[in-house]
Amino acid sequence: MKRSPRLIVVANRLPLARFGAGSQARWQAGAGGLVTALLPVVRRTRGEWIGWSGAAGRAPRHEGREGVAMRPVSLSQREVASYYHGFCNRTLWPLFHDAIRPPEFKHENWGPYVDVNMRFARASVRCAKAGDMVWVHDYHLMLAPAMIRRLNPGLRVGFFLHIPFPPEELFEWLPWRRALLEGLLGADVVGFQTHLAAQNFSRLARRYTDAFGTDALLRFGGRKVVVREFPISIDFDWFDSRARGARAVREAAAIRSRIGPRRRILLAVDRLDYTKGIDHRLEAFNRLLERGDASVKNCVLIQVAAPSRESVREYEEIREKVDAMVGRINGEHSQPGRVAVHYFRRTLSREALVPYYLAADVMLVTPLRDGMNLVCKEYVASRPDLGGVLVLSEFAGAAAEMRQAMLVNPRDVSGTADAIRAAMSLPPAEARYRMGFLRQRVRRHDVHEWAESFLEELAP
Ligand code: ADP
Ligand code: F6P
Repeated sequence: MKRSPRLIVVANRLPLARFGAGSQARWQAGAGGLVTALLPVVRRTRGEWIGWSGAAGRAPRHEGREGVAMRPVSLSQREVASYYHGFCNRTLWPLFHDAIRPPEFKHENWGPYVDVNMRFARASVRCAKAGDMVWVHDYHLMLAPAMIRRLNPGLRVGFFLHIPFPPEELFEWLPWRRALLEGLLGADVVGFQTHLAAQNFSRLARRYTDAFGTDALLRFGGRKVVVREFPISIDFDWFDSRARGARAVREAAAIRSRIGPRRRILLAVDRLDYTKGIDHRLEAFNRLLERGDASVKNCVLIQVAAPSRESVREYEEIREKVDAMVGRINGEHSQPGRVAVHYFRRTLSREALVPYYLAADVMLVTPLRDGMNLVCKEYVASRPDLGGVLVLSEFAGAAAEMRQAMLVNPRDVSGTADAIRAAMSLPPAEARYRMGFLRQRVRRHDVHEWAESFLEELAP
């Protein structure tokens, strides 16, 4: 009997992390778009996930938890510093996000990046059987596709980039630009969040490698490489049904009553990352209060921020900056019983986020640059009541699809303050109309459709 092909997901991080010790230990999904999107897909296809546990040192060979088969890859303490904190998060991450922070170019971090990519490639080849599809994810593993192909030319290999792919003027700064492009060209399908990102890649591949062809179909090393956008999404039904449940409705009502029934709730949910524009957003909220366009009597901002990459200096700096700004705004504007900004610096479970989404009158998703951004899609999926207004950055990949949101340039602080004010006073009929449109879009293009369209393209 013919075996049906399995899906092998290869990503820097495993989807579940262990929290707590002994009998109290729980396995929980971490914050981040990649895990949010892929976990339901791997569960459904009964695939395997190759990734790093998030802790330095030797990892067990195999972990099966919560319906996911995981194959941990070990990273040493030095590799965590040079490959993950260094090359991934201080070179590629800032460069691919408009160089919002200056990227560093350290040759001593390149060797570990190559070594770790090779370790992931070997693990993939050990795990995959003939006919399986190997799907490599994100900027941590841009060399892995070509390495996997060299180790086993018979496998179908896909690659998907979850973050933006920069234009030529930025990508060309990389001393390793050719190697990275050739690494990606080892895949049969190279997927991006947006059409622009796919175009940037094809142009750069033609310029710096021997690849030739159109933006959508390159030829390299005697093979075809499909290049296309596949805008990622979420498990719409999960958020929708959770938000319809009695528990979420009750918890949302409790949040509203604690905040005060006459106060509008502005909500923001992000990883604590300098690309998310948390500081610009706080400044816009402050501007709104200072101009007298809103006051703590009629509104509150709830900012939930999940700590992220805390050993990287730029992350420590943004954390300190946000702490200080929240302190300043609250110091200047709060009144007894009415705090201006409620700031939760912690990771909530997805179940705990839904009541906040449901309670929020205005959702602020204002990154300075974002590959897609899933929080905005989670928000609309969590509003079966058609309530709430989404304010969305033009610089999130999601803006290309979510035109009925109130689009803002987050670097324009006054303009963002104006948009928040307009969102707070949007006529209910118009708000419902916009939300209906947005929900229809995310419902139709959910994460299962995203994965299916990628895997259809990858299938032999
Ligand atoms: P990124 O991949 O850069 O983190 P996305 O918006 O695409 O950005 O995805 C973020 C994911 O992480 C979403 O699923 C969101 O619900 C989750 N998340 C963000 N902040 C928190 C938080 N404070 N607590 C729990 N989950 C969070
Ligand atoms: O796509 C953005 C991303 O880097 C994902 O790979 C990851 O899920 C998320 O951000 C969180 O980052 P990290 O794994 O570095 O904590």
